[in-house]
Amino acid sequence: MDILTVVGARPQFIKAAAVSRCIAEYNAKKSDESSRINEIILHTGQHFDKNMSDVFFKELQIPKPVYNLNIDSMGHGAMTGRMMEKIEEILSIHQPDFVMVYGDTNSTLAGALAARKNNINLVHVEAGLRSRNMNMPEEVNRILTDRVSDILCCPTDNAITNLKEEGYDHFPCSLVKTGDVMQDAAIYYSTFSVNKSSIVKEMKLNDDEFLLCTLHRAENTDDISRLEKIVYALNILSKCNEIVMPLHPRTQKQINKLKLKVNFKTIDPVGYFDIIELLKHARIVMTDSGGLQKEAFFFKKRCVTLRDETEWVELVDLGVNTLVGSDPDAIIHAVNKPVADEKKFDVNLYGNGMASKNIIDALCNYRSS
Ligand code: UD1
Ligand code: UDP
Repeated sequence: MDILTVVGARPQFIKAAAVSRCIAEYNAKKSDESSRINEIILHTGQHFDKNMSDVFFKELQIPKPVYNLNIDSMGHGAMTGRMMEKIEEILSIHQPDFVMVYGDTNSTLAGALAARKNNINLVHVEAGLRSRNMNMPEEVNRILTDRVSDILCCPTDNAITNLKEEGYDHFPCSLVKTGDVMQDAAIYYSTFSVNKSSIVKEMKLNDDEFLLCTLHRAENTDDISRLEKIVYALNILSKCNEIVMPLHPRTQKQINKLKLKVNFKTIDPVGYFDIIELLKHARIVMTDSGGLQKEAFFFKKRCVTLRDETEWVELVDLGVNTLVGSDPDAIIHAVNKPVADEKKFDVNLYGNGMASKNIIDALCNYRSS
């Protein structure tokens, strides 16, 4: 079975790492070469800084991409269009059995459309999520990708429900609740991140005393008023709380451009081992990231989400994730709330580390059906 995996942005490297590792385990059990899975990784180039790309391939031992399209830093149309054009050329060389795409970035959509238009089976990992905010580029990407996919690998019950509400039961595609590959990655890599990362020691951070913050979504960085309000709230919080903020290049550029005064500790983006160790030791996570919201849950930390809505609604329902948008009072109030009951985290929402295996099983079943 030949799979062409399309990745391009930071969260996709982490998700693909979990599945690639599972493919290697699957292959190790097959003595016959023809029954193995041959994965070809294509990197669109969307993320390109060493600490946004290479570091993940090295740390997580992801197989080296066979292709790197080096397409980055463009408007949505140009970026997606150029990626599609190149992916199509590569598809015509390899004719894989499946194209696998992850999440909701422009790289996801480009891979999805190229596969569909060339009638190659398309697998969407992280299907069925919805924010119901069509102004988000991610929402557009994920809705379009879902609609053209053959196998929709859903991380949660809510994702399955969303698709059924949109009529997917009646479409010629397969809906599978697989669980979330990010939990596979968190479980596996957190067993040895402590030996690989020294960030907590180097930064002299005390357990349960700092706020881990990330911010990069267009809705926050490109809206000056929202960005100013969030930075204002963080500045106030930093008077009584240590804040550690690995800054996405998008946010760094915007802060520099607007000359915003930042009174808290910002650092360059960190690798996966470092972020896991920061997550383990933080008091609270503050973020607009999709991935960090779940990782906060995996490491039993309360999350203050700097957005007006989330795709991970089960975390809000559970009471471990508070949506605060960009309102400074709401942000400060949510951070100062009493700690969440630890027992709340003892619930299996995301598959407990079996998602990658379920995805491989879904592909094998689809092929033999
Ligand atoms: C993209 C995804 C977003 C995802 C995020 C993960 C889209 C539309 N958005 O947003 O859904 O949450 O990745 O991090 O696909 N840049 C660098 N170096 C890098 C990467 C980016 O300088 O390694 C700069 C680019 O030049 C650009 C800006 O950051 O100016 C934004 O990059 P882009 O890839 O367009 O979108 P992200 O904000 O990273
Ligand atoms: N991450 C990381 N280093 C950082 C910030 C984030 O390794 O400095 C990881 C984070 O733990 C998560 C993934 O990157 O696994 C999330 O990526 P991001 O927030 O960029 O994208 P999103 O999930 O919002 O699409």
